[in-house]
Amino acid sequence: MQKIYPIIAIIGLVISISSVFKKSPFFNFVGLQILIYGLLKSADYIMPALPAQVILMYMAMSVFSFIIYFSIQEETFKAFLEPMRSLFADDNKKFLRLIIAFIALPLFAGYLTYAKVKPTYDPPVSARIVHPEPPSQMDFKGKTMNVLGLENPLRKDTANFAKNVEEGKKIYYQNCFFCHGDDLDGKGHIADAFNPVPLPFRGTDTIAQLPESFVFWRVAKGWRGLPAGSGPWNSSMPSFEDFLTEEEVWQVIMFIYESTGNKPRSWE
Ligand code: HEC
Repeated sequence: MQKIYPIIAIIGLVISISSVFKKSPFFNFVGLQILIYGLLKSADYIMPALPAQVILMYMAMSVFSFIIYFSIQEETFKAFLEPMRSLFADDNKKFLRLIIAFIALPLFAGYLTYAKVKPTYDPPVSARIVHPEPPSQMDFKGKTMNVLGLENPLRKDTANFAKNVEEGKKIYYQNCFFCHGDDLDGKGHIADAFNPVPLPFRGTDTIAQLPESFVFWRVAKGWRGLPAGSGPWNSSMPSFEDFLTEEEVWQVIMFIYESTGNKPRSWE
């Protein structure tokens, strides 16, 4: 479907150039509109595709400005209207009139109406932010914590590092793996049942992009912490503040970083 638009643009160009020789402003106009439409639709070869709304706006603007252009001189405007006059008035155009006015145009209008009212089964698009902005402060079981600049206190305790990761592993397999996956890839047993799906922790574009404080906030607050204005937040991510202690949350965070080989983003 993509490749058809440059061809449409070329057809428009040919129509508009040939109509200059035939001195027919009407077909020049039609050719130019087809050319512009074809070019706008093929814009995605060199940049992100233009939204349909923008294309509609451009087309409306170009139709009006070319009508103004062709109607400035009386002679040109007369020549511009001539094909339409001839189609509806001349006797030798009877057959063409029948086809265009009574078959093609009604069919086209019918198609446009059909396309407009036809139900679509695409899922509604919602601009869902995957990593919403955390608040600068949060409340954890009644204790106020500054999320900004918050660091994992267990990281300083290097002597017990392995023990903490081991604890985190237990917590993970007791609380998280059926959603976030045995392999921390977001493909847990029940993951498919949710929309949005549980996020993976593997890969460089996941928790590797986040500071631990953000992860702490997400694990502690789950769906409850998500901003109300960001679309349908039907997230199944539980609020682990209700089930885990502060230390346990840090331990499980340490485990998900360690076992995926990801490093948390630092504040520097
Ligand atoms: C019932 C399923 C479920 C369970 C259990 C669950 N999560 Fe989630 N989690 C989700 C879903 C769904 C998302 C993605 C939607 C969202 O952001 O809320 C998510 C998102 C996250 C995020 C945000 C990741 C990011 O890249 O922004 C983190 C961190 C997280 N979960 C950690 C955990 C940890 C740790 C546990 C266990 C203590 C856990 N989750 C248990 C469903 C679950």
